[in-house]
Amino acid sequence: MKVRLLPSSREFEAVAREPVLTAALRQHLNLPHSCKGGSCGTCRVRVVSGRIAYPHGRPAGIDAVEEAAGYALICQAHAVEDLVIETREIRHVTDVEIRELPARVARMERLAPDVMGLWLRLPAIEPFAWQAGQYLDVMLPGERRRSFSIANPPHDAALIELHVRRTPGGAFSDQVFGSMKAGDLLRIEGPLGQFVYRPGDRPLLAVGGGTGYAPLKAILRTVLESGLRRDAVLYWGARAAEDLYDDAWLRGLAAKHPHFHYTGVTTGPVHEAVLRGVAGLAGFDVYAAGPPAMIDAVRHELPRQGADPARIFFDSFDRAPD
Ligand SMILES: Cc1cc2nc3c(=O)[nH]c(=O)nc-3n(C[C@H](O)[C@H](O)[C@H](O)COP(=O)(O)OP(=O)(O)OC[C@H]3O[C@@H](n4cnc5c(N)ncnc54)[C@H](O)[C@@H]3O)c2cc1C
Ligand code: FES
Repeated sequence: MKVRLLPSSREFEAVAREPVLTAALRQHLNLPHSCKGGSCGTCRVRVVSGRIAYPHGRPAGIDAVEEAAGYALICQAHAVEDLVIETREIRHVTDVEIRELPARVARMERLAPDVMGLWLRLPAIEPFAWQAGQYLDVMLPGERRRSFSIANPPHDAALIELHVRRTPGGAFSDQVFGSMKAGDLLRIEGPLGQFVYRPGDRPLLAVGGGTGYAPLKAILRTVLESGLRRDAVLYWGARAAEDLYDDAWLRGLAAKHPHFHYTGVTTGPVHEAVLRGVAGLAGFDVYAAGPPAMIDAVRHELPRQGADPARIFFDSFDRAPD
């Protein structure tokens, strides 16, 4: 099936039983998306012509009214016939080439009881250019893929740093916490996603839940290590103090950089700590990453206290749809 994008008229092929977004990414078209699980609404398009189907039913991120008005979530929608869809192509935000590459596990370190740090080495001759905040997919047998944010910034590109949370029964994380060892070979695809650092002089508010800290670390290091005089605030929520695995490093960073403030949160939802602790939300660029419920709360509750919805950027760590 052919899928044509408006307004650019670019075309790509989608095969049967494949989400339209997966087909686009495979053909290096980085269309807007975040969770890939049908909940965040980022991949919403207008279907101008042709028919789509949702094999698992209408996803949570779109309601019946929007569906009737011709909108669809292409991370879940399959093409039933040739399609013409209207979408934002955001090449200007992430104009980078998506590649599938082998990656060697160079180092592993237990960061928290259920979080493993993985450092991957990519082939020296294959350029891999990413922007702070983006993620990659680890390719598993059976065409399954798992998404993990890149925790280091592009200016420190010798290895790729990932923070992998253990999901009981998880196809990839069970392997990471079980049999994986330094020297193992993986296949990855990336860079992916539009959750990237936006230059500017507005103060930056980073809100992370659990391993949602990973892309924020890349973004904060970009600001702090490139000598930018941009105010940055990080609120990082986790279940227990031991899960704030970079706490000591972040405190040291805050002591060294007067423009950077850090708060670790282990009691109550992290967005509530933000609402209590941060004044003047209207002036901030907000970067939020973590579990879907946390992202939902940030997107809905922060604007009630003045945050500009257009300046809230987010990555929703949904589970992988197989
Ligand atoms: C853009 C993006 C970036 C991400 N970055 C990271 C990252 O940096 N670090 C990280 O640890 N994770 C990250 N995630 C989440 C991660 O991709 C998923 O949790 C993934 O499913 C884990 O793969 P797995 O093979 O370990 O477990 P799976 O095989 O996917 O899961 C095993 C079982 O657990 C369930 N499950 C999985 N995840 C969840 C969940 N979140 N909530 C409830 N049930 C779940 C599944 O339905 C399945 O039954 C990211 C997700 C996205 C979309
Ligand atoms: S709903 Fe499709 S990417 Fe989130």
